[in-house]
Amino acid sequence: MALQTVRWEDGHLYIIDQTLLPMDFREIRLDTQEAVWEAIKSLRVRGAPAIGVCAAFGVLVGFRQLAPADAHAAQQAVRRVAGYLATSRPTAVNLFWALNRMRNAAEHSGAASTVESLFSSLEAEARSILEEDDATCRAIGESGDSLIRDGDGVLTHCNAGGLATAGYGTALAVMFRAHEKGRRFHVFADETRPLLQGARLTTWELMQAGIDTTLICDNTAAQVMREGRIQLVIVGADRIAANGDTANKIGTYSVALLAQAHDIPLYVAAPISTFDMSLSSGKGIPIELREPEEVTQGFGTRTAPENVRVYSPAFDVTPAGLIAGIITERGVLRPPLETAIAALGGGQTAFV
Ligand code: MRU
Repeated sequence: MALQTVRWEDGHLYIIDQTLLPMDFREIRLDTQEAVWEAIKSLRVRGAPAIGVCAAFGVLVGFRQLAPADAHAAQQAVRRVAGYLATSRPTAVNLFWALNRMRNAAEHSGAASTVESLFSSLEAEARSILEEDDATCRAIGESGDSLIRDGDGVLTHCNAGGLATAGYGTALAVMFRAHEKGRRFHVFADETRPLLQGARLTTWELMQAGIDTTLICDNTAAQVMREGRIQLVIVGADRIAANGDTANKIGTYSVALLAQAHDIPLYVAAPISTFDMSLSSGKGIPIELREPEEVTQGFGTRTAPENVRVYSPAFDVTPAGLIAGIITERGVLRPPLETAIAALGGGQTAFV
């Protein structure tokens, strides 16, 4: 399956508008930095790696829009656009990782660089980020596929599929690869209130790949576990602290507690660009708060009284102790996760 979640063609940035799926599969073109910011904020493009890839190309869009007159102004333009796009969503560290890469590419483009040559360097860097993401996701699939055995039931939460990356996914990459290798298993997808990434996106991707899929309400997970239908949970990640604490879509922590109660292993699948080595634990991970309307009148239908108070964090943090392993492009990290992560010797530092 070859989704092109984010595409750069003839100097233009295109994304699949994920807010329309699964009813409508439509690409939109983002021609201004404001349009890129809005697309990230409103989840037209979403999922940690995909946000990073889109923002990298977004720097090109903003750069062209600002039309810097000389090399000095060009360097300033890159910093301005990167700084602006960094305010779109706070939790997925891949956004800051990608923007840092773009800023570094600009800074190292050479003293003799012109506006045009700087643009070319930035374009090459954004293309590398996209291509590396695809290769990384395929490697994640290869690292993890043997965890899924014939006959297993696998639960996933939110969407960590091709739509959340440049095209192959993280948690779903493991499932795609196991399926490609002929293993037969069944996936239960949590619908993922309030924005229904599981119902709208994960089931759509899995069904397109020909994988047996069942959609469940979020509050059904405990019951399907008790019924013995789940042998494995695999989820994605938006930011992983140095000790292995993992931020992912709201509800992941509940799923992890349920998995522990039923003695089911929970794996996180994520690229190394999702590790934030500047944070010693998950306590420091910024959690995005979303607008009340997403809960009270999601998708247009009012389901709660007007003016009711709403608390809607978009992510929660699963403590490392509830995680059986982290599936990365360099293999599966096993507890103690802090030691395994330190041995990777990489990861991010904060966006400055
Ligand atoms: O709010 P979203 O849809 O961007 O949240 C996405 C998730 O939580 C994913 O599980 C995570 O980004 C991993 S995507 C490979």
